[in-house]
Order: sequence, then C-alpha cells, then structure tokens
Amino acid sequence: MELQQVTHIDNVRLSDDGTRVVYIDQTQLPNRTIYKETNKAEELFRAIYELQVRGAPCIGIFAAYALYVLALQIPHEEFEPFYKELVRQRDYLNSSRPTAVNLSKMLDRMDACAKSHSGDSHAALLEAMRAEACAIHQEDIDMCYAISSYGLSLVKDGDTVLTHCNAGPLATSRYGTGQGPFYLAKERGINLKAYCDETRPLLQGARLTAYELQRAGVDVTLICDNMAGMVMKQGKIQACFVGCDRVALNGDAANKIGTSSVAVLAKHYNVPFYVLGPSSTIDFHCATGEDIEIELREPDEIRKKFFAEPVAPEGVKCYNPAFDVTDHSLITAIVTERGICYPPFSESFRKLFPEQFE
Ligand code: MRU
Repeated sequence: MELQQVTHIDNVRLSDDGTRVVYIDQTQLPNRTIYKETNKAEELFRAIYELQVRGAPCIGIFAAYALYVLALQIPHEEFEPFYKELVRQRDYLNSSRPTAVNLSKMLDRMDACAKSHSGDSHAALLEAMRAEACAIHQEDIDMCYAISSYGLSLVKDGDTVLTHCNAGPLATSRYGTGQGPFYLAKERGINLKAYCDETRPLLQGARLTAYELQRAGVDVTLICDNMAGMVMKQGKIQACFVGCDRVALNGDAANKIGTSSVAVLAKHYNVPFYVLGPSSTIDFHCATGEDIEIELREPDEIRKKFFAEPVAPEGVKCYNPAFDVTDHSLITAIVTERGICYPPFSESFRKLFPEQFE
C-alpha cells in the first residue's frame, strides 16, 4: 500500500468559489472517500448530527464555515433582520450535538464577529466572517501541531501507546490531538507503535484511526474494546493517549464512550493516561463533569449498525450514551497547545490560560 500524508488532507474547507462547505463524509470510511459539498442549512445540520463530520475540533471548524455560507444567503438590507436570521441559523446548527464544546464556542465566535462589524458595509461584514472561520481553522492546525509535540515528549522510542476513538487528522486539522504524536513520531523517525480500540458502537477506532495510522505507515494493531485490560496486563502498553470533547475546570474530561473504562484500567495497571486537547475544548465555564451534557443516540446503533443482520433481538431496550466523563483523578496529565497540565488541573489551567480567568 502506498503511504499517504494523511496530515495534509483538508477534511473540511470552503469550496473554491467560497460559497459552500466541502467535507469528507466520514461515515463512508474506510471503504469509500466521498467528498460532499453544500450550503443548505439542513444538510449542514445533518452532516454534524449523522457524524459525517465529527471530532470536537472538526465540528467547530465545520460549524464556523457553515454559518458563514449561510450568512451569504441571508438578505441584508439592514443589520438587525440579518442578525436575527443569523442567530436563528446559529441556534439550529448548535442543536445538532450537545457534548463537544467546540461547536457552541466557534458559533459564538462567528456571532461575535458579525456583531462587531454591524456598522460596516455588508461586504465587509461577510469578509470578516470568512476571515474568522479561516482563522479558527488555522488556529486548530497550529494547536494540533503543538499538542502533538508535547504529547510526543511524554513517550520514548519503541513505546506502544493505546488510543481510543478517533482524535486524528479527520477529527481535527492536520496532525490531530490524541493521535498526533504518532504522525509526528513517524516524521521524526521515532518508533511509536499504536494499539487502537475499535470503539463500539460507531467504530471510529476501527474505521478511522486504524485507517489513518495504517495509511501513514504507523505500526498499528486494532483490538476490540474489551481487550484493553488484557493488553495492559500483558505489559504491552506504556501509555494511553485520548482526545476530548469537553474538559471541565477540575479536569474531568468528556470523550467518546469507553474512554473512562480505559482510564480505570490504566490506573489499575499503572499505565499513564493522557488526555490531549486544544484549549478550544476546555470549557472554562464548566466546574465539573457533572455539568456536561451527554448525547444519547439511537438504539439501532447498538442493535444492528454495521452488521449484515441485527445482533440483538428486535426492539430490545438499549442505552446508548455517545460519551462518558473520565474523572480527573484517573488522568495523569492534560496536554494542551500551551503545555502539559498536571493535577490539580484548575491551577494548571489558571497558569497556562490566565486570560480565561480575568
Ligand atoms: O462522536 P464523535 O466521533 O464526534 O466523538 C469524537 C471523540 O470523542 C474524539 O475523541 C474527540 O472529539 C476528540 S477529537 C480531537
């Protein structure tokens, strides 16, 4: 197989004429690479809701571009009616998924940008919104690279790291967060091996992480979620790297369902457990994980999705939370673009991000 530079693919971007959002439909991977493009509100909403576009940072970037292309279509004789409709579209996009804080944060940034240009010509306002969406994207590229470098400093040549879900290039921009160190290690000639959980029920680990890492030539081994304890007990794993969807001030971290089980196992087997995420994923207004809303999804994702036939009796009750919250006491460190935060996390956040506490 020809190795690919997966860190240089734009999974989300504006179309060449700047009027639509272009994105890879991640539900089709690894079997088909389908690019879609749209400027229709319902399709943009569905792209997030159906996880065609997914991963906290990627959702934020996509939503920023989405609100911009929707703004282009709003009639604009006066600012007030324009802004009222913009807020309606913002709220609609924001209702697509509740857990990843990047979605509401980036929509709020776009909203604030529009408001701060209310006195300008409409063309200038739209240009400012376009520039803001591009800045959000570029900031994520920079943050992912920095996070990957800090993450790589936590492991050594020859280590094997367990990862859960997908926090790679598809979920972010370029390097990713939770999987960024693998790509950087590859580039720098460092041998860093990956064990990747398949991540039931939507299989982001099997479909996306294993696919991306294999294409980049990283030594990756796929396991079922219930094998993580076994490989840790066997001493195969030197660290765990995961991404995050919303981190509370005390360090409690929401991430893909199953993450907290990995953290409990890691604690038991004395394996360091690292959460890697940009400051855009820290919710500085959220005190603890208790305040994080967890998305509940359709039972059929458990009962039948991805199987040729249903694997559970028709209509059996299912509980399908898409995320869980890993207690801060299980987290060795949280790796951000400004450095590595150790417990107590609220103090580390205060030192690294003082402007958030002014
Ligand atoms: O439901 P998903 O696939 O959007 O969940 C993604 C995750 O949980 C990722 O680990 C998280 O968003 C971090 S991506 C850098």
